[in-house]
Amino acid sequence: MGNSIQKAGESRHLRISEPSPWVRRHAPLIPKDGPSGGRVLDLAAGGGRHARYLLEMGYRVTAVDRSLEGLAKLENLPDMEVLQVDLEDETPWPFKGRVFAGIVVVNYLHRPLFPLLLDCLEPNGVLIYETFSRGNEQFTRPRNPDHLLKSGELLQLAEGRLQVVAYEHGIFEKYPCPGVIQHICAVNDLALSTRDDNEPPAHPFRKGDGTISE
Ligand SMILES: C[S@@+](CC[C@H](N)C(=O)[O-])C[C@H]1O[C@@H](n2cnc3c(N)ncnc32)[C@H](O)[C@@H]1O
Repeated sequence: MGNSIQKAGESRHLRISEPSPWVRRHAPLIPKDGPSGGRVLDLAAGGGRHARYLLEMGYRVTAVDRSLEGLAKLENLPDMEVLQVDLEDETPWPFKGRVFAGIVVVNYLHRPLFPLLLDCLEPNGVLIYETFSRGNEQFTRPRNPDHLLKSGELLQLAEGRLQVVAYEHGIFEKYPCPGVIQHICAVNDLALSTRDDNEPPAHPFRKGDGTISE
């Protein structure tokens, strides 16, 4: 396994056009009828593989990255907003006061942004977060612990704020970017219960094409 992961890890992210299977699986949960009109934030969007996929699904998309190299072709598409921002320097958070129906973060980790992301999710909004975890350093980059999630870290992020509808942590060999990966899908609906026991609503799992899974 080590070799196959190492080889894939060496290819640069801009060349990968296939969206993550985790994003494909959970993107249909993102609402289109909320206050943002179905606008999804693709944070550290890279080559825009998820932005493109979400546009095809009929969402509006805001893609942000410090480099526009991979996003230039998307800039003029309808429903597309592209922002060049360094998310780790002194630049003020560009989305203060805005809300999104979905936030997609794949293969990027800057922990100080966690609370800002949660504040940007509209009611019923969906956080889809996937990135590498500790243990990945044995196979490929990233190896810096600052860029690797600790076990359960995305669950901690959601705790008390979002309903976790799916979570996994382990070795994903056949992924577009293989490695030790942790991912979560969680919904901002803890305050939206209509039940006496305060349990949040249940959500249908759908396939990437929008049809309901068995
Ligand atoms: C491994 S790529 C992932 C790209 C995309 N999310 C995907 O899954 O294909 C990481 C991205 O994070 C962006 N990035 C790294 N540091 C950043 C920063 N300080 N501010 C904004 N973007 C940053 C890089 O430019 C790169 O596009």
